[in-house]
Amino acid sequence: MDYPGFPLSRPRRLRHHPLMRRLLKETRLDPADFVLPLFIRQGKGIRKEVSSMPGVFQLSPDTAVEEAGKAIAAGVKAFLLFGIPASKDATGSSALDPEGIVCQSLRALKKEFHDNCLLITDECFCEYTDHGHCGILSEKTGRLDLDGDATLPLLARQCVEHARAGADLVAPSGMLDGMVGAIRLGLDEAGFNHLPIMSYAVKFASGFYGPFREAAESPPQFGDRQSYQMDGGNAREALKEAALDIAQGADLVMVKPALAYLDIIRQVRDRFEVPIAAYSVSGEYAMIRAAAKAGWIDERKVALETLTAIKRAGASVIITYHAVQAATWLSG
Ligand code: PBG
Repeated sequence: MDYPGFPLSRPRRLRHHPLMRRLLKETRLDPADFVLPLFIRQGKGIRKEVSSMPGVFQLSPDTAVEEAGKAIAAGVKAFLLFGIPASKDATGSSALDPEGIVCQSLRALKKEFHDNCLLITDECFCEYTDHGHCGILSEKTGRLDLDGDATLPLLARQCVEHARAGADLVAPSGMLDGMVGAIRLGLDEAGFNHLPIMSYAVKFASGFYGPFREAAESPPQFGDRQSYQMDGGNAREALKEAALDIAQGADLVMVKPALAYLDIIRQVRDRFEVPIAAYSVSGEYAMIRAAAKAGWIDERKVALETLTAIKRAGASVIITYHAVQAATWLSG
């Protein structure tokens, strides 16, 4: 038995002792890596489970404070806020209301937790428009479509309102050309040049967002989002999107979804110096939950394995609906 490298080399020597395996683990998850999304609507005492995402709830500002308190106790201190407004219209005007649901929630969370929480706001109009698209519509291109340029000033105003209400990081998710530049300018003019931007720079038009649209009550009422979100086959275009957003002032860039796009996370990581976030989206969570509920997979193993893959691919921030469970598993 004399094969190349063998018997001299035996990689299994490093795998026998459990503490040796622990010592040599190359990629380690930490609760500090995670961001927990919160869906918040007007009201009091609301805890409405999202049917396609068992374990995820629509909350009101008071129950969001409770939920955040539990997450903070488990070591998850960063939150991504989505608002479900009381009313919707063609321009998503409730997104700009300083008394709107996200601004209220930001103030409630800051009042309770002060600097012991990091509040990130999703900046988009799809939850606020009656047509469910991510901004204002027009027929400039010959068909009824999202009008990015007309939406940019509104997007900047939305960010400024959230900044005033206590957001620590704004995260535009609409895939509008120029969105990072417009927001940077708007924030700077309003006195928020210290506030960072995390751009959803590389966001694919994905079937994995299905359950989110129930959670956020934001499905498009006609058509789809392919005229603004990216085609899943495009890796070079992903690098172009990231480069543009970084040039416009993005402090972090996000790749979304995560699991089906690990190669993109890695390429963006290798190419750019800014921190990379990855969003393990609603459909990724729903698949793991559903299979685990059916008794087909071990949720803990599969969720931690998936999160490890996302981190190994190069993400330093992971947005995940498993955040609190994962933090608990890691400390157990
Ligand atoms: C848009 C937005 C979406 C998600 C986050 N921000 C939905 C979309 O683009 O259709 C999806 C998140 C998820 O699926 O978990 N505001």
